[in-house]
Amino acid sequence: TKKAILGPLVGAVDQGTSSTRFLVFNSKTAELLSHHQVEIKQEFPKEGWVEQDPKEILQSVYECIEKTCEKLGQLNIDISNIKAIGVSNQRETTVVWDKLTGEPLYNAVVWLDLRTQSTVENLSKRIPGNNNFVKSKTGLPLSTYFSAVKLRWLLDNVRKVQKAVEENRALFGTIDSWLIWSLTGGVNGGVHCTDVTNASRTMLFNIHSLEWDKELCEFFEIPMEILPNVRSSSEIYGLMKISHSLKAGALEGVPISGCLGDQSAALVGQMCFQDGQAKNTYGTGCFLLCNTGHKCVFSEHGLLTTVAYKLGRDKPVYYALEGSVAIAGAVIRWLRDNLGIIKSSEEIEKLAKEVGTSYGCYFVPAFSGLYAPYWEPSARGIICGLTQFTNKCHIAFAALEAVCFQTREILDAMNRDCGIPLSHLQVDGGMTSNKILMQLQADILYIPVVKPSMPETTALGAAMAAGAAEGVGVWSLEPEDLSAVTMERFEPQINAEESEIRYSTWKKAVMKSMGWVT
Ligand code: G3P
Repeated sequence: TKKAILGPLVGAVDQGTSSTRFLVFNSKTAELLSHHQVEIKQEFPKEGWVEQDPKEILQSVYECIEKTCEKLGQLNIDISNIKAIGVSNQRETTVVWDKLTGEPLYNAVVWLDLRTQSTVENLSKRIPGNNNFVKSKTGLPLSTYFSAVKLRWLLDNVRKVQKAVEENRALFGTIDSWLIWSLTGGVNGGVHCTDVTNASRTMLFNIHSLEWDKELCEFFEIPMEILPNVRSSSEIYGLMKISHSLKAGALEGVPISGCLGDQSAALVGQMCFQDGQAKNTYGTGCFLLCNTGHKCVFSEHGLLTTVAYKLGRDKPVYYALEGSVAIAGAVIRWLRDNLGIIKSSEEIEKLAKEVGTSYGCYFVPAFSGLYAPYWEPSARGIICGLTQFTNKCHIAFAALEAVCFQTREILDAMNRDCGIPLSHLQVDGGMTSNKILMQLQADILYIPVVKPSMPETTALGAAMAAGAAEGVGVWSLEPEDLSAVTMERFEPQINAEESEIRYSTWKKAVMKSMGWVT
C-alpha cells in the first residue's frame, strides 16, 4: 500500500504571480503525492500598473493547503506525517502591512509594475559616486523591477503607509515575508523574516556581506526598522499557527523551514548544485539561472547577479547569473483575457499546431518594457509582419515563438558571460507541458531541451530546503540520495541556418518595440 513506502512528508507553498499551489512530497523518494492550485487575480488600475490583493494571496494559500490535505485524506495518507513546510514565491512583489491589525496598507505592487519609471529616472540622476553604486552592492541594475523603488513609491504616495511608519506599526516584506509572518501567527507573534534569495531582489541587500545595506537604505530613503530579518534559505523560521480561517488544523505546529524565491527554488529542485549548471523556468515570466558557485560573477551582457541559495545558517552562499524575461506565460494569459482568442491556456497548443508556423508574424510582448538583456523600460508590445493571410493561429504561434526567442537572447548573453556555452537547456515550469513550445525552443536554441517528468521543480526545491533544515532533517541533499529523475528530451529538428534567419528577424522586431514610450 501507499502507506508502506511513505517516508516523512514535506509540504511546499509555491506562490507564483499567476497562481498559488500547495504540494506534498515524500521526502524519501521526492515523489509528488498530492497538490492543489488556485489562480490569482491581477489588477491593472492604470496603464503599466500591476497589483494583487495580499489577502487574496494568503487566502489562496490556506485554500490550497486545505484542499491538498483533503486529497491526502482520500488517499489514506495521514497528514500528521507532514514534518516541514517550505515556501517559494514570486519575487520582488512588495507588501506593507500593519503589524497590529495584520491588514495590508495597500495592494501588493507586483514585480511587473511600471509605475516607478519616473522614480527610477530621478534616482539614477543622483546615484552617488560612480554608476556602479547599486549594481556593485546588489548585482542589479536600477530598474522598476525590484522592491526598493516600489517601497519608495508606497512611502511617497500612500498616506496609510506613511502614518504606519511614523507610528512604528509598518512592516515591509516580499510575498515570502508576508506569508511566513501570517502563517506563523500574524498579529499573535508572527515571525517577520525573509531569506537571502528574496532579500537579494529588493535592491537594498548587499550580496557580499549578506546584510541590509545602510548606504542603499539611505539612498532610497527606506527606514531600516520596517525591513524583515534576513535568514538562510533552510532553517526553522517558526511554527505554523493556524488561523481561524484554516480548517486544516493538523498542520498546526509544523515548522516552516524552507524559503526561497521561486527561481532559486527551481534551481535547487533541478539539482543545479554545481558551478555552471543552469535551468530555465517558464512561468508568468521566464528566468534562466546559472549557478556560479561561491563567486559573484558580474555580467557584461545585461544579466543580473543574484543569490542562488544558502541552505543552512552555517552553510556557504551560492550565487547565480540570471537572465530575466518579464513576459512568458503572461502572453498566453493576455491572449485569453484581453483578446479572448483562447478560452484556456492549454488551447494555445491546439491553435499553434493547426498552422505550425507564424507565417512571418512576430510578436514582441514587451508589456512591461523589456528586461534582460536590454533593460529598456520604454519598449512596448508589438505584433508585426501581418498580412491578410494572418489569423489567430499564426498569432498564437508567434506568441509561443516569442517565449523561445527571448530565451535565446538570454542564453546567448549567458554563454558570453560564462565563456562555456551550455550544451543543453534544463527546463521546468507550467508551460513546459506544451510540446510545441518545447520543440520550438530546441529549434531556436539549436541545442537539446531537457525537461524532468515531474515539472513542479520550484515546489520541490522549497520542500528540499524545508526537509533538510537543521532540526527537521528528513531530506538529504546529497546527490546520491536523490531519486533518479526521468527526463524528456527535445532535439533541434530544423537546420541551423533556418534557425538563425528566424532569430535575426525576431531581433528586427525587438528593435521596433523599443522607444515607444519616451
Ligand atoms: O522575479 C519574478 C519571478 O519570481 C516571478 O515568477 O513564477 O511568477 O513567473 P513567476
